[in-house]
Amino acid sequence: MPERKIIAVVGATGAQGGGLVRAIAADPGSGFVARAITRDVDSDKAKALAKLGAEVVAGDVDDEASLSKAFEGAHGAYCVTFFWAHFSPEKEIAEAGTMARAAKAAGVRHAIWSTLEDTRKWVPLDDHRMPTLMGKYKVPHFDAKGESNRLFTEAGVPTTFLLTSFYWDNLIHFGMGPKPGADGVLGFTLPMGEARLPGIAAEDIGRCAYGVFKGGTQYVGKTVGIAGEHPTGAQMAAAMTRALGREVRYQAIPPEVYRGLGFPGAEDLGNMFQFYRDFERDFCAPRDPAVARALNPALQSFDQWLAANKSRIPLG
Ligand SMILES: NC(=O)c1ccc[n+]([C@@H]2O[C@H](COP(=O)([O-])OP(=O)(O)OC[C@H]3O[C@@H](n4cnc5c(N)ncnc54)[C@H](OP(=O)(O)O)[C@@H]3O)[C@@H](O)[C@H]2O)c1
Repeated sequence: MPERKIIAVVGATGAQGGGLVRAIAADPGSGFVARAITRDVDSDKAKALAKLGAEVVAGDVDDEASLSKAFEGAHGAYCVTFFWAHFSPEKEIAEAGTMARAAKAAGVRHAIWSTLEDTRKWVPLDDHRMPTLMGKYKVPHFDAKGESNRLFTEAGVPTTFLLTSFYWDNLIHFGMGPKPGADGVLGFTLPMGEARLPGIAAEDIGRCAYGVFKGGTQYVGKTVGIAGEHPTGAQMAAAMTRALGREVRYQAIPPEVYRGLGFPGAEDLGNMFQFYRDFERDFCAPRDPAVARALNPALQSFDQWLAANKSRIPLG
């Protein structure tokens, strides 16, 4: 039997990495096998991945030696950082560097770096249409990822740069679902006017990443953008109205109002949505759903995602 190619997956118990582990496990004849990296091999989520046939190993992106060990013998590595766990762009950049060095040390043949745009290429710090945050960023959780791309290139790691999109799952887990207004009607709020929002089912990110690993060297050194669809806020509200059987009204608010909502990360996300709105064409163009569908034929539309997940969206 030919040797199976190990794909070491950072964030395996989370959204992106979990989708990748499940995609590999669902394709047992493929020649690939998933190695799930977690800080706690005994957690229920880790055990569930082991049950699917994944090898589960300990590793922490803040501990380079543990990560180098977890990448040992792997053909591929899926690299993702966790901005919302610490809200620190500097930490995110340090973690990306750790992953790049660990991948190089282990001789990984193909890494995927889950990245986003460095928005400062479009909105330099002296452009005051949106505030500078944390001293030197416009959209910290984007800029840190984009700035980190070069860490993989400079380390000499054969890398595919995967541009991800807004998870529709944010409607469930990130407090972005519709909320009742004073009149009781559900309102879906985005500071994006009529601009389109490239979105994706979080589970499809890992499935697309699996397509990239299967595609192999043709994707090394390339940037691959993925989305399920590019609906506007009004189209998302209309889709939710159909799925929930209850009116959902789109409420476009100004980005400066969104930035002032006061929840942790509101300024970062306000700038992010403004960037989507003001650079709609540049943000949508690299995220072609046809590209994502070629990588992952099961790619979901927003309607399909809603049909499967509508009961999980909190409407409070
Ligand atoms: N939400 C969106 O719309 C969206 C869109 C595009 C990109 N993103 C980006 O996606 C990234 C997060 O990815 P995700 O959503 O897949 O994460 P997630 O679902 O929050 O999962 C994170 C997993 O990573 C693991 N983890 C956390 N800290 C770790 C560490 N120090 N070392 C090793 N593993 C660690 C945890 O596993 P264990 O506890 O098992 O170790 C956890 O299960 C963020 O940087 C965010 O900016 C989000």
